Amino acid sequence: MLFDDVMRQRRSIRAFKPDPVAESVVRELLATAACAPSGTNIQPWKVHVVAGEVRERLEREVLAHRELSPDDAGSEFPRSGQRKEPYRSRMRALGKDMYGRIGIPKGDQAAGWAQWGRNYRFFDAPVGLIFTLDKDLDAMSFLDVGMFMQSFMLAAKAKGLDTCAQGAWNNYWTVTRRVLSVPDDEYIIAGMSLGYADDSHPVNGVISEREPLESFAVLHGFE
Ligand SMILES: Cc1cc2nc3c(=O)[nH]c(=O)nc-3n(C[C@H](O)[C@H](O)[C@H](O)COP(=O)(O)O)c2cc1C
Repeated sequence: MLFDDVMRQRRSIRAFKPDPVAESVVRELLATAACAPSGTNIQPWKVHVVAGEVRERLEREVLAHRELSPDDAGSEFPRSGQRKEPYRSRMRALGKDMYGRIGIPKGDQAAGWAQWGRNYRFFDAPVGLIFTLDKDLDAMSFLDVGMFMQSFMLAAKAKGLDTCAQGAWNNYWTVTRRVLSVPDDEYIIAGMSLGYADDSHPVNGVISEREPLESFAVLHGFE
């Protein structure tokens, strides 16, 4: 695929087929993603890749914890749940489209809770990734991990695979830390699902709109 096609065709996929992804493919994607740039080339990204029995155990333990302690959601590093405009409207538009497609009415908290919980099943993808970062690094390193994640998602798309980046995985981090033996001096910053899209599932019909260039770019000094 041409780069522009890969970029434009990648979308967040939230329902996967059970078809497995070979370890060799995962290794190749990781090696490609590691070509991502990082400030002063420190390459701060760290990633746990889970499949099979380990993935099942992680999902089981996180979901059990979530049922017992639903309020134990929140990341280890500062994050704001509040969004001002125009971000709030964009976030709501995504939620409206997504929940509308899968028939969850506004205000149905139980159904919303269950759907959000699918994050912790990696949306049934055969492979999950958990990204961590040394705690003594700064905001620039979060950018570096983001670049690694996007590079990974594009490399996957180019091979016919699909992904969903998942901030949801920085919730219930105590469980993820324990199951994957993540050291205390690393933040669990995000997760990602990897696999083959189930194109028959309505949730995968979500198309997140983008704002026109004029709304985010200011071009200076052009003739
Ligand atoms: C850092 C980050 C965290 C995200 N976290 C979640 C998540 O926890 N669950 C989810 O379903 N989607 C998550 N997404 C996917 C976004 O909702 C999605 O990227 C956005 O709506 C744009 O849609 P697109 O990826 O299909 O282009 C996340 C994306 C990013 C970049």
